[in-house]
Amino acid sequence: MPIIEVDNLTYYYPGSSKPALANISLNVEKGDFLLITGPSGSGKSTLVRTFNGLIPHLFGGRFEGKVLVKGKDTRYCSVAELSKTVGIVFQDPENQILTLSVEREIAFGLENLGLPRKVIRERMEKVLKDLNIVHLRERIPIELSVGEQQKVIVASIIAMMPEVLVFDEPTAHMDPLSALKFLELVHELNKRGYTVVVVEHRLDLVAKYANKIIILNNGRIVVKGEPRNILPSDIAEECGVDVPRYIRFFKRISNLAKISRYPISDEEAAETLKEVLGYGRSY
Ligand SMILES: Nc1ncnc2c1ncn2[C@@H]1O[C@H](COP(=O)(O)OP(=O)(O)O)[C@@H](O)[C@H]1O
Ligand SMILES: [Mg+2]
Repeated sequence: MPIIEVDNLTYYYPGSSKPALANISLNVEKGDFLLITGPSGSGKSTLVRTFNGLIPHLFGGRFEGKVLVKGKDTRYCSVAELSKTVGIVFQDPENQILTLSVEREIAFGLENLGLPRKVIRERMEKVLKDLNIVHLRERIPIELSVGEQQKVIVASIIAMMPEVLVFDEPTAHMDPLSALKFLELVHELNKRGYTVVVVEHRLDLVAKYANKIIILNNGRIVVKGEPRNILPSDIAEECGVDVPRYIRFFKRISNLAKISRYPISDEEAAETLKEVLGYGRSY
């Protein structure tokens, strides 16, 4: 059974006559790293809001089709209950920060779950260590860098032990190096067993970690599959996705140089170039 199953979902925000999502069907399986991308306004945030029931419970609107989380129809589960399975990290950490210390921030959700103090302490110590933020424990979250704030939010979510971690443009306010490091952390979490869904534009940094990609445009899935197969397609470029430069490069020269497969990372791009130039071959 998929962890998240979206079945022919069409959704209108209250008062809107245009659907923000139209006929969406997808599955998120255990262990997946699903990358969702697409131009601004294409429905990415709307889609992830359906994964923990914020849509329809908080936003209202017209909701057709269904979303199942571990087989349960989200229309009949509370956001609190769904959040035990699906934790979401939104784009602007400031809007998600609720307290005045990193420790309090992590304890907050656990206290709401009604866990005993001892368990809260244990989980706190574990996530501080796991995310390498022990040194931040007494800091005031809003005074941290965006990258550190995002880590604190991830820590507060992981402490609640969800199975799926969803990130909605987590690196939007980060410089390139912080974004790279943050996406490495997301990859690491996926390797440690979390199922991951990431909405991201920086495909050059993240596509190599994903086993599935979905491109949204105008509330519809235009294409889905493996990043290596999808990103070189014309449709990806046509709908304004930021296709990694090395893929565009090999596409441009594809009539001159046949390659066995498109690269999906800088490292692979270097190997592909060597192959094309005839290096690394033994004569
Ligand atoms: N809270 C809201 N109320 C009404 N319309 C919204 C709301 N949030 C987003 N929309 C609309 O839904 C569409 C999809 O938006 P969104 O999911 O935020 O796209 P993305 O995350 O891909 O940029 C857009 O047309 C946007 O204007
Ligand atoms: Mg968005």
